[in-house]
Amino acid sequence: MMLNWDDPLNIATATKKIPPASEQKHKIHGSSPQVATQQIVDNSVEVDLDPTVPGQGGASGLEQLEMGASRICVDDKRIINCRADLNQLVPFKYEWAWRKYLDGCANHWMPQEINMNADIALWKAADGLSEDERMIIKRNLGFFSTADSLVANNLVLAVYRHITNPECRQYLLRQAFEEALHTHAYQYVIESLGLDEGEVFNMYREVPAVARKAEWALPFTRHLADPEFCTGTLENDQTLLRELIAFYVIFEGIFFYVGFTQILSMGRRNKMTGTAEQFQYILRDESMHMNFGIDVINQIKLENPHLWTDTFKAEMIKMIKEAVELETQYAHDTMPRGILGLNASMFAEYLQFIANRRCAQIGLPEQYAGANNPFPWMSEVLDLKKEKNFFETRVTEYQTGGALNWD
Ligand SMILES: [Fe+2]
Ligand SMILES: [Fe+2]
Repeated sequence: MMLNWDDPLNIATATKKIPPASEQKHKIHGSSPQVATQQIVDNSVEVDLDPTVPGQGGASGLEQLEMGASRICVDDKRIINCRADLNQLVPFKYEWAWRKYLDGCANHWMPQEINMNADIALWKAADGLSEDERMIIKRNLGFFSTADSLVANNLVLAVYRHITNPECRQYLLRQAFEEALHTHAYQYVIESLGLDEGEVFNMYREVPAVARKAEWALPFTRHLADPEFCTGTLENDQTLLRELIAFYVIFEGIFFYVGFTQILSMGRRNKMTGTAEQFQYILRDESMHMNFGIDVINQIKLENPHLWTDTFKAEMIKMIKEAVELETQYAHDTMPRGILGLNASMFAEYLQFIANRRCAQIGLPEQYAGANNPFPWMSEVLDLKKEKNFFETRVTEYQTGGALNWD
């Protein structure tokens, strides 16, 4: 739809009232009015906006087709505030996003493929696990079972709309499915062990150690999820960047790491090996989610250097340091006495080491001089290259094993 520059533009909502569909001239040759009016709700429609004009956001992919418009070239593509048609995946501009989508698909797995028998036997044996070990399992299932749903909801209801690039959206769709698989995996473990589902799924409202992290994250999804919110101003683009950092760098990049390390440590000691295997696959996915988020954040910075002000950087550093404190507290709360050769002070250093890396990854100075990694084996688990070989047999099984039964 053509924008009449004489019309006042409502910047806050970036929408403009148009006449009822019956009175419009459709630009789509040979299409039915139903197709051309798909996006019309209450007789209002999103206007084609110009991202070069502040306050005008980007395309959604649901705009009217513009017949005969010039073809898309890579230079038209931008991560945010892009006007180019979002229904055309190619030509690729951000090869890294497409590569991550392919890698994500190559690492496909399903929770029910993992044998849980040893875990069930150990969990049910009276002297199989100490009370402290049981608490670690239950609290982490409590945190992750709802945290992954929160991440998925943030992706599809908040982030997706504002990322105006088809190859990045392709990855977001893959990530959203992986988050569904993670929630499925936690549910599968909870069900296998016969845990009280109500107790586990409500921990994020009932157990302070678990609740604090979800509470911290929730405000960082509200702006993007607001249907009135649109990018295109300095303030709103910074809001988007802030919320991407909150979810990708902090929630998935810091808040997941104490729990993953605790569960994987158990697996290394031959306890709860099925649960640990589930967590290992999830950690591999999460590591890629975080790396994708970091690439998106850095690309937005590159294309919009005016967003990365000294004030904004200081705010991000403060946020990351707060997150380190919160996650250190989680380590204390889930492991008050220290078990499995682990103790909470080792986690304090590990989190500082991770936070230094996260800062460096998004171009901020490291905040914790001399922090070392007390768990070097965690890096091996994260080594995707190695794991790709591991997954080779699985990938083949997926291609040939799941034959369709036409009967
Ligand atoms: Fe996840
Ligand atoms: Fe994730």
